Amino acid sequence: MSLPLVFIVAVAKNGVIGGDNQLLWRLSGDLKRFKALTMGKPMIMGRKTFDSIGKPLPGRETIVVTRDRLWAREGVHVARDLDGAVAMADKLGQAMGASEVTVVGGAEIYRQLLPRAARVEWTEVDLAPAGDARFEPLDPREWRESAREAHFRNPEAKDEADYAFVTYQRITNGLAPR
Ligand SMILES: NC(=O)c1ccc[n+]([C@@H]2O[C@H](COP(=O)([O-])OP(=O)(O)OC[C@H]3O[C@@H](n4cnc5c(N)ncnc54)[C@H](OP(=O)(O)O)[C@@H]3O)[C@@H](O)[C@H]2O)c1
Repeated sequence: MSLPLVFIVAVAKNGVIGGDNQLLWRLSGDLKRFKALTMGKPMIMGRKTFDSIGKPLPGRETIVVTRDRLWAREGVHVARDLDGAVAMADKLGQAMGASEVTVVGGAEIYRQLLPRAARVEWTEVDLAPAGDARFEPLDPREWRESAREAHFRNPEAKDEADYAFVTYQRITNGLAPR
């Protein structure tokens, strides 16, 4: 059986997730959660998100999706389409004993893979910045909130906003995600 696809995304109140190929806020608690949720698992990301991070993150397998046949980076698995990325991530995940495959953005990749996602780990960021990358609200007929944990900004960690960790589960009605 294939490993479930789990989205990890931080979204501002206005749906913005980034601008000029960068994150638009600093939230140390969210970075810690990102690390905890991805460690020991494969991570699928778009080429632009990889560029914004700049390097593969340790302890995880990075699968970058790009249409550029010449694109390659040390320590990174490259997929030329989404089916290839999901198959590659599944194989890597099974080999490393992971329970799931993570999808970590950006906007283009989230949009195309959402129909296949089983769970979304959403950080609600209490800001409304201008930006060019967005994540649309989840359809409540398809997703239900199963957990919520609110956090106040920690000024000592230079956090820039309050935030909440919210888990959404796909309402399957006995059907697997497409
Ligand atoms: N807040 C968050 O949680 C979060 C998380 C991740 C990213 N972000 C933000 O999101 C923004 C980046 O998102 P984005 O939508 O611009 O870019 P992206 O999704 O990271 O990457 C887009 C690129 O992926 C490749 N691609 C997309 N669909 C493909 C397909 N079907 N087959 C093969 N390759 C495909 C293409 O690469 P080529 O052009 O090389 O062909 C495309 O240009 C940044 O601002 C980043 O900071 C935010």
